[in-house]
Amino acid sequence: MTVTEPTLEEQAVRSRHRVKTYGEVFTPRHMVDQMLDLVGDDLETSPDFVDRTFLEPAAGHGNFLVAILRRKLLAIEKRYPAEAWAAESLFALASIYGIELLEDNHQDAKAVMLAEFHGFHQAHGTPCGPDTDLHRAATFLIETNIVRGDTLTGKTPTGDDIQFSWWHRIDGKPGEVRRDPFTLASLRDDAGFDFTAYDSYGECRIEKVHEQEKADA
Ligand SMILES: C[S@@+](CC[C@H](N)C(=O)[O-])C[C@H]1O[C@@H](n2cnc3c(N)ncnc32)[C@H](O)[C@@H]1O
Repeated sequence: MTVTEPTLEEQAVRSRHRVKTYGEVFTPRHMVDQMLDLVGDDLETSPDFVDRTFLEPAAGHGNFLVAILRRKLLAIEKRYPAEAWAAESLFALASIYGIELLEDNHQDAKAVMLAEFHGFHQAHGTPCGPDTDLHRAATFLIETNIVRGDTLTGKTPTGDDIQFSWWHRIDGKPGEVRRDPFTLASLRDDAGFDFTAYDSYGECRIEKVHEQEKADA
């Protein structure tokens, strides 16, 4: 009998030390799927399912994040014409946020998201290699939305505020986006999102979002 190594998504525990110190126990895939079934409307069927936002505050190695992405991508494939898949898949990435304390988990979470995104496009024969805008935009969105930090304090390892960005669609311009940064801390304020404290950006095609200059630069 051959014993195969568990994949990242199947691994429950990395070490006893990490369980004790960081409470690191990963939710098994079948439970992730069952939990996501409870929000199937947000993931797959509501008219704006691509843009429904998810924040994983203790992202681990990305098991929830990647399952959310997988389900949104499958729904995009079903509900949108093929010519819209590139932009819509990027908007799906833009809707998924995560925070993770530990560096290795953080790296794994980002890598698993990019691999899922690539897998989707490779399966459809869409070029997504390192030199393509699709790859660059996806990498940029993942880097911007999945951050390393402490959800409880709202700080990064260097003591800065955890910053996210809202990716606004532009009315009347399909496939265009405008980035608006805000802090995690401002989500907790009664005043709501504070979009004023940070740089603002101009509008662009979402496939070019990685090239976007600050509007006030
Ligand atoms: C119980 S695991 C859960 C991981 C994933 N959510 C799951 O259900 O499989 C908790 C994760 O949260 C991370 N973590 C612990 N404290 C944290 C904090 N204050 N801010 C962000 N992440 C934290 C740990 O490093 C670990 O990866």
